[in-house]
Amino acid sequence: MTKRLKIGIIGSGGIARFHVEAYQKLPYVDVVAVADVVPGRAQQFAENLGLTDAQTFDSHTEMLKLDLDGVSICTPNASHHRTSVDALRAGKQVLLEKPMSVTLNEALDMVKASRETGNMLTIGFQPRYDPNMKRLQEIVQSGRLGNVYYVETGGGRRRGMPGGTFIRKDLAGAGAMADIGCYSLDMALNTLGHPRPLTVSAFTSNHFGRNPLYHPEADRFEVEDFGVAMVRFENDLVLSFKISWAMHMDTLGATMFLGSDAGIKVTPFGTGPWSGVWDGSIGSMTMFHDDFGGHTETPIPLISHSVNLFQAKVHDFAEAVRDGRPAPIPAEQILIQQAIIDGVLRSAEQRREVSVELPHNV
Ligand SMILES: NC(=O)c1ccc[n+]([C@@H]2O[C@H](COP(=O)([O-])OP(=O)(O)OC[C@H]3O[C@@H](n4cnc5c(N)ncnc54)[C@H](O)[C@@H]3O)[C@@H](O)[C@H]2O)c1
Repeated sequence: MTKRLKIGIIGSGGIARFHVEAYQKLPYVDVVAVADVVPGRAQQFAENLGLTDAQTFDSHTEMLKLDLDGVSICTPNASHHRTSVDALRAGKQVLLEKPMSVTLNEALDMVKASRETGNMLTIGFQPRYDPNMKRLQEIVQSGRLGNVYYVETGGGRRRGMPGGTFIRKDLAGAGAMADIGCYSLDMALNTLGHPRPLTVSAFTSNHFGRNPLYHPEADRFEVEDFGVAMVRFENDLVLSFKISWAMHMDTLGATMFLGSDAGIKVTPFGTGPWSGVWDGSIGSMTMFHDDFGGHTETPIPLISHSVNLFQAKVHDFAEAVRDGRPAPIPAEQILIQQAIIDGVLRSAEQRREVSVELPHNV
């Protein structure tokens, strides 16, 4: 008989609903607890989602005293560190929402807690479940492009600035670079096979967020709404990475992988002002190469699929807990992008290139 899993939810805001709805599709999972720091919010959330038997709490530490198999952490970025370390040390398996953390030191501490306890910490990057992301990774890692020396990625919304917890430094830690930038970084780094970064030179701004013409909470807007960075890696590889929550432009361009033998241009699925930040599927892939005596462009056929990416990530976590499998998207892998985001924030503040401080033993 399949073991039933008892799952808890920490943070019952916008994205937590999607976690619960995905768990509710699994016959062997019960969502038995919800915690939120705003008194009454967890209770209301549980009622809205029909979690009639769930216990509710105003503090994650109280909830973690329960006998739970796993937790979904859906709190703002700055509390990812505390809540996940507490959950791991309380013996729970953890599915944590992106971005993993704000600072690199937090991320290192989280990986330490996972290693010391033997409990999994998996980070919820749902685009990894797009079969075409896997195809892109296979093509790039097959060596078909030759020596990959330059990658350009990122994404931009013409208008797509969040408010609330996302624009406060104490809660979000950072703005667009961490919120949606983490998706572009994950796509590029996972495709490349997690190369080691050396330096970052970055610039950030918030001309839109701080302007009441564009943001209703302009006086409370404390993070960046735009950022660009150049990241140097070992083996003469460079990444150019740009992100915007708002801009006077339609797009910041396609993602491209340039190699000595071929290049690939990739565009995201979807249209409209909120598309194109690599939080979903690939929309097109084209290879540029010299063949048949001239410049050739080959559209790479997309795998047609109906995978619900968000559900797939929650289900994969639940299955990994049930079957005792390792973390589907291990926190160790995400340390590299946290080191880059950490470097981006330091470089933008200091207005100069900085070294990436990733310890040698990770
Ligand atoms: N994967 C995705 O597609 C996706 C989409 C949106 C948001 N997210 C991520 O999910 C996280 C939450 O985003 P959201 O849109 O749900 O934010 P939100 O502000 O709507 O909800 C966050 C909730 O967490 C609660 N909270 C804060 N600190 C807490 C703590 N220590 N313990 C318990 N509860 C706490 C808040 O009171 C709030 O109810 C963010 O890190 C965000 O980047 C991911």
